[in-house]
Parts: sequence; C-alpha cells; structure tokens
Amino acid sequence: MQLTCRALLYILSMVAVMSLFEWKENFSVKISRFDEAHKKLIELMNEIYAIIKMRKDNATIVSVVEELSEYSKTHFNDEVEQMIKFQYPYLKEHKEEHNQFIKELDNMKEMIQRQSNLLNVQLLNFIKDWLINHIMKSDMKYGQFFLDRGLK
Ligand SMILES: [Fe+2]
Ligand SMILES: [Fe+2]
Repeated sequence: MQLTCRALLYILSMVAVMSLFEWKENFSVKISRFDEAHKKLIELMNEIYAIIKMRKDNATIVSVVEELSEYSKTHFNDEVEQMIKFQYPYLKEHKEEHNQFIKELDNMKEMIQRQSNLLNVQLLNFIKDWLINHIMKSDMKYGQFFLDRGLK
C-alpha cells in the first residue's frame, strides 16, 4: 500500500493527539477511590505529554509537574493512612517507593526549571514507568488485603 502525503499527515496528526498512556480495567486495584486517584494521576501525566508536544515553555511544564506532585502526595497520604489503619504489612517499603517518586519528580522539576529541554523525554518515561510499575506491582498487592477488610 502506498501512502499519499496527505494520508501520512493525517496519521501523524492522529498520533500527535494520542495519550501517552490510558488507564485500563486491568489496572484496577479493586478499591474504587484508589482507582479514581490513579486515573487522575495518568490524566495529569497525559497533560504533561500534551504540553510538551505543543512545545509550551518550561514554566508551563513545571506547573503541571507541580500539580502532579501535589496530587500524588494527597493520594499517597490516603493510601498510607489506610495502610496504618489496617496494619498493612508492607507499609514501610510502600512508603519508601512513594517518597522516591516525589524526590525524583522534584529533581527533574528543578532541572527543567533550569531550561534543560532535553529532559522532557526522560521526565515522561520516568513518570510513565513509575506509575505503571507502582500501580501494577505495589498497589495491586494491597487490593485484596483492603477488600478483605471492607474497604471499597
Ligand atoms: Fe502506592
Ligand atoms: Fe497508588
């Protein structure tokens, strides 16, 4: 099949509006409040992706990274609060993963503030990999634990 230039441009424009990553059912940790928070985190990551694609200035990127960082802290606190309440056995290591994420996000934010555009791809990869890994492995691990204790 031979692609005309117009068809190619159309495909490229479709790719340009696509999200970096979408929440799917297999991402569910079975606790709806945490699923909702994870959807919001992914939404903020996609917003950063869109802003970078639109070649917005670094201050705009940084402001959404800050929003992601603040929302993450709220969500992490919520998870940790429930873990303490129900004496979740993996609290310490789980908390450590959260802290590492916030720390690394802060580092990257500062570097982007110093105008290093080269970091944009690195930033997106870091957020995407961390979110997928943390939700699919560490958060997934608490799903049944909380369900068994009546959390919804
Ligand atoms: Fe978590
Ligand atoms: Fe989480």
